Amino acid sequence: MNKVLVSLLLSLGVSVAAQAADAGKIVGDAEAGKAKTAVCGACHGADGNSPAPNFPKLAGQGERYLLKQLHDIKAGTAPTAQPGEGRKVLEMTGMLDPFNEQDLADIAAYFSSQQGSVGAADPKLVERGEALFRGGKLEEGMPACTGCHSPNGAGLAAAGFPKLGGQHAQYVAKQLTDFREGNRTNDGDAMIMRAIAAKLSNKDIEAVSSYIQGLH
Ligand code: HEC
Ligand code: HEC
Repeated sequence: MNKVLVSLLLSLGVSVAAQAADAGKIVGDAEAGKAKTAVCGACHGADGNSPAPNFPKLAGQGERYLLKQLHDIKAGTAPTAQPGEGRKVLEMTGMLDPFNEQDLADIAAYFSSQQGSVGAADPKLVERGEALFRGGKLEEGMPACTGCHSPNGAGLAAAGFPKLGGQHAQYVAKQLTDFREGNRTNDGDAMIMRAIAAKLSNKDIEAVSSYIQGLH
């Protein structure tokens, strides 16, 4: 395995272990979560399969990853948020404020339990997208996406590595650009995604995002 990936995985292992220690206790209830997601459906779709390319699909996403994003978005959109704190999603400002820890866990469980839909890749971009996703850019020390997001894009739910397969290309491209430009910083102190996105050109991002949209 390449050195960058090994060190990334090691630093990640530490934070995963630290989180596991204080996780637990609260268990999400998908049935209870459904009733709390009425307000979300307008953008993300009632079952989490958002019809709009700029709103992420949540259906079938890993529960642990979803819960982390909910925490990060709640923190990032709070009036007291410091620059760079959490994850800023202006469209969701104030929306998570009424929810306590149990509510957020229920919401994550609900969307995670839904079946995610798949889109299609642009045939003209498949070759470049697939090469990046499966091979990375080893000469530049960038590991393949498959190492963490799995070969079929399903992610690794237990570790909090998000599912990517079937996600809207437009949303994926925005995330990669945001990581690269420092507009999304909630990938932790190990800066895994910021380090990876720094190696991607606009054309790389376009190709790998299109490939991901059709991946399942
Ligand atoms: C007005 C539209 C809108 C509504 C309503 C909305 N969201 Fe979002 N949500 C967004 C947008 C836009 C993003 C992505 C922003 C970005 O580009 O980073 C997002 C991102 C997310 C993410 C991160 C997904 C990922 O893959 O990282 C989660 C989780 C989420 N929303 C949950 C919710 C929940 C739960 C609700 C209801 C309580 C909700 N959203 C309501 C627009 C909305
Ligand atoms: C060493 C592990 C690792 C590798 C390799 C990796 N990722 Fe990630 N990726 C992550 C983690 C962890 C997150 C979640 C960050 C967070 O908690 O916000 C993530 C998040 C993402 C997201 C945001 C998902 C969403 O729903 O918002 C995208 C898009 C993404 N990665 C794409 C890629 C692509 C494309 C590659 C290959 C070029 C790649 N990743 C390689 C670990 C990795």
